[in-house]
Amino acid sequence: MNALKDSPKVGTMTLDGMAVEFTEGETIYDVAQRQKKQIPTLCYDPRLEAFGACRLCVVEVEGIRNPVASCTTQAQPDMVVRTRTEALEKHRKTLLELVTSENRQLSVDPLSGFASQELSNLVVQYDAATGRFQGKQSGTSNKDDQNPFILRDYDNCISCYRCVRVCAEQEGDYAINVKNRGFHTQIIAEFDNDLRDSSCTFCGQCVQTCPTGALGDKKALRAEAKPGEITKTRTICPYCGVGCSVDILTKNEEIVGVQPAMDGPANEGALCIKGQFAFDFVQHEERLKKPMIRREDGELHECEWDEALDFAAAGFRRVRDTHGRQSIYGVASGRAPHEAAYTMQKFIRASFGTNYIDNCSRS
Ligand code: SF4
Ligand code: SF4
Ligand code: FES
Repeated sequence: MNALKDSPKVGTMTLDGMAVEFTEGETIYDVAQRQKKQIPTLCYDPRLEAFGACRLCVVEVEGIRNPVASCTTQAQPDMVVRTRTEALEKHRKTLLELVTSENRQLSVDPLSGFASQELSNLVVQYDAATGRFQGKQSGTSNKDDQNPFILRDYDNCISCYRCVRVCAEQEGDYAINVKNRGFHTQIIAEFDNDLRDSSCTFCGQCVQTCPTGALGDKKALRAEAKPGEITKTRTICPYCGVGCSVDILTKNEEIVGVQPAMDGPANEGALCIKGQFAFDFVQHEERLKKPMIRREDGELHECEWDEALDFAAAGFRRVRDTHGRQSIYGVASGRAPHEAAYTMQKFIRASFGTNYIDNCSRS
């Protein structure tokens, strides 16, 4: 293999008066991001193929009459690009006013989803007039969808298709799609049914990428009226061995929701249904707090740890003595840290003399 031949070609362009380098395949937006330029976007999600729908990311390129979408335009050698001029800012503001003329609800609770404030923040930033172009509206709310996790309020939809694209490109699920065009555009689940009747895995990625709160986290929104600030705490999902990074949302020390960390190295904004929505166990009133032993009356009784461990050890010994060492098989939990997984295999190998040890994360 010729390494030199395969290495990406580097070019130079001018960005806001500065000579900057780019590599082959980069868009103007990629280069501008690296240079810490503030270019507004709505249909852009760095994890997805660029789509070019909202046109908010427009920039001026010398020699091209109209502004171009920076997220879909490849950087070229000797290009001269301006990312922030009076004309561009006016253009962006007008685009925002067109978008918001359709958007009925700009005050969105941040519990809705990770990106749910993007549109409302831009409206404030550009001081956009939301009533300027009011008229016909597209999208019909589907708030009656009976699924327990995802609010589908398409009154707030701006047809950026981030939800459809994340479902297809990241989750590989294709559970939602676009029906019709123009003012009749509508995001639908398969055959226009409830999400429960589609192939949706309830990973929540569409909720977290939606920039308007049209898709919302129903479970987190239960805490909408609760007093207190939302606090985010970065941690690792405890459900399996992948190690997805999450932000736990709390209000007054109570867990009210979970959002995936977009910069999590193992998950890059993705989660499964358990990591995303199954957090009630943490504060559940029936959560086990002490070990329990099933005694001769057939009922489970709370006990102390020493007694529980002696009881379990006696059980293992009885099985080994009665049925032989190969009657015992250990499956370590994917929720356990490395040290515990190591101890588990040592326990099975050293105590029983077998290699019958596995880990649930392997399946
Ligand atoms: S529901 Fe949200 S993510 Fe999907 S197209 Fe509408 S605004 Fe975009
Ligand atoms: S929750 Fe996941 S699988 Fe279901 S529609 Fe959204 S992105 Fe697709
Ligand atoms: S962000 Fe580039 S067109 Fe929407």
